[in-house]
Amino acid sequence: MRWPHILPLLLPFVHVAAAASAAAAAPLPPGVTFLYNANITVGLSVDVGAIPAGNVSVIPVIGGSLIGPKFSGKILAIGADWGLSTAQGYYYSDMRAQIRTMDNANIYVQMTGLMQGNNGLIYVRTTFQTGHKDYWWLNYAFSFGTMRASGTGYVVDMWYLNGG
Ligand SMILES: *[C@@H]1O[C@H](CO)[C@@H](O)[C@H](O)[C@H]1NC(C)=O
Ligand SMILES: *[C@@H]1O[C@H](CO)[C@@H](O)[C@H](O)[C@H]1NC(C)=O
Repeated sequence: MRWPHILPLLLPFVHVAAAASAAAAAPLPPGVTFLYNANITVGLSVDVGAIPAGNVSVIPVIGGSLIGPKFSGKILAIGADWGLSTAQGYYYSDMRAQIRTMDNANIYVQMTGLMQGNNGLIYVRTTFQTGHKDYWWLNYAFSFGTMRASGTGYVVDMWYLNGG
């Protein structure tokens, strides 16, 4: 067989080899920036009871504080964690709260996540909404954090991926 004739036969293998080497070189991960540490104070929980997915209890947010390199402020007495405990022992957190920054911007924050194993740490995905121009970037920040119960509430640490 002359070279030009076997070339089409080899081509699929060349493609496979190229794909394999491309997969081996992992792209650079995006950087992470620290956003804030927050202490969230909670009130007495309200038991919703057993739903098909598990037990729901609502833990009201009654206040708190927040300190970060980009902004600091307080947590208002608005919102709650709508927690779901499943029969398998998982805890799903769904918290909505209101941040008021020191310069009076109102920021709605929603955190959803799942408790990791039995160490009490909840990993959360976080979204923010605000119309304040100085914090507009939070509307599209890809944010995540950790949350754990502590004393009278939760301790939260938050980060976001460096973007455009
Ligand atoms: C949260 O509480 C801890 C322990 O009291 C304290 O060290 C930390 O500064 C507090 N953080 C905020 C944001 O208030
Ligand atoms: C829900 O709560 C009830 C009453 O405390 C308990 O008996 C049951 O095991 C719980 N179910 C789940 C899925 O956690």
